[in-house]
Amino acid sequence: MRAIEIVKPGGPEVLLPCEREMPVPKAGEVLIKVHAAGVNRPDVLQRTGNYPVPPGASDIPGLEVAGEIVGGDLEGSGFSKGELVCALVQGGGYAEYCAAPVAQCLPVPRGWSALQAASLPETFFTVYSNVFERAKLGEGETLLVQGGSSGIGVTAIQMATALGHRVFATAGSDDKCRACESLGAERGINYRSEDFVDVVKSLTGGKGADVILDMVAGSYVNREIQCLADDGRLVIIALLGGAKGEVNFSEILRRRLTVTGSTLRPRPVAFKQDIAHKLLERIWPLLEAGRIKPVIYKTFSLEQAANAHALMESSTHVGKLVLDIVR
Ligand SMILES: NC(=O)c1ccc[n+]([C@@H]2O[C@H](COP(=O)([O-])OP(=O)(O)OC[C@H]3O[C@@H](n4cnc5c(N)ncnc54)[C@H](OP(=O)(O)O)[C@@H]3O)[C@@H](O)[C@H]2O)c1
Repeated sequence: MRAIEIVKPGGPEVLLPCEREMPVPKAGEVLIKVHAAGVNRPDVLQRTGNYPVPPGASDIPGLEVAGEIVGGDLEGSGFSKGELVCALVQGGGYAEYCAAPVAQCLPVPRGWSALQAASLPETFFTVYSNVFERAKLGEGETLLVQGGSSGIGVTAIQMATALGHRVFATAGSDDKCRACESLGAERGINYRSEDFVDVVKSLTGGKGADVILDMVAGSYVNREIQCLADDGRLVIIALLGGAKGEVNFSEILRRRLTVTGSTLRPRPVAFKQDIAHKLLERIWPLLEAGRIKPVIYKTFSLEQAANAHALMESSTHVGKLVLDIVR
């Protein structure tokens, strides 16, 4: 099969087309003929040598695919051969065929194409598990999304808005802020010209945000602590601004704040299966009703994976980049 491999750690040019053996699905896995694969920032980290492949996972990049089930262990799964699914995988997405745990497959939502569905799993599993499970965003609570125009950000804004929450989002330009607002954010905050602490405090009558989804960390953390409401929760999913920062712990004690975080890729299949069930029950109806829409900025052929990475690193995109593998 055709695939993309990382020939050595480096820039986008180290992503090269290759021929590989077809993956052989293990017990509990299905074989998917990939129609499209999502591109995510963790793929860029893997390409630069900063995100090691978990033991047993494919070294081919790509954490999400959508396509047709063509074989594998389907017994008791509720899926059948020929069905279109999207799947969260631990690697191997940038290829014509990919093995996926059947527990991490979800049907392509009615009204969505496989190409659109390939943009779903990585950000939907990440946002749901962090915002609604770890940080427990509850009824009537507000959410601040850092990096609102990212793949993660557009998912978080739409999901929380569709579930009835007030959402604020930061982004690096006025245009990106307006894009966040068009997806449902009450206010896009240009972090280059505005202080998100001041803006969120003033929009919430001085209270602050109940939950913050953060991909920046570093020097942001202390300001995020100022920005949280009493009993607020900060959930960190990436360290784009650095792994270290100085924190005033007295605020955490005095106002009963929680600082937490997680990474999705190394979590066991049973954890991801639980999230898949919740997505299917709570979020898939919103996708099928058009209350959450695909936000695909650009598609590329499989051979153009390096161009997709270069665009992602330029951070000029809003939403998701997808490889159209049957193109
Ligand atoms: N923990 C997990 O399980 C998990 C899973 C998936 C992804 N992630 C992480 O989540 C992040 C987003 O992933 P993605 O695939 O959605 O990437 P992406 O689309 O490339 O988005 C990265 C975003 O970061 C924004 N950004 C950078 N510095 C910022 C700052 N100081 N303030 C606000 N925004 C800032 C950029 O927007 P501007 O140009 O507007 O700054 C850009 O939109 C990545 O770091 C990724 O590694 C974590």
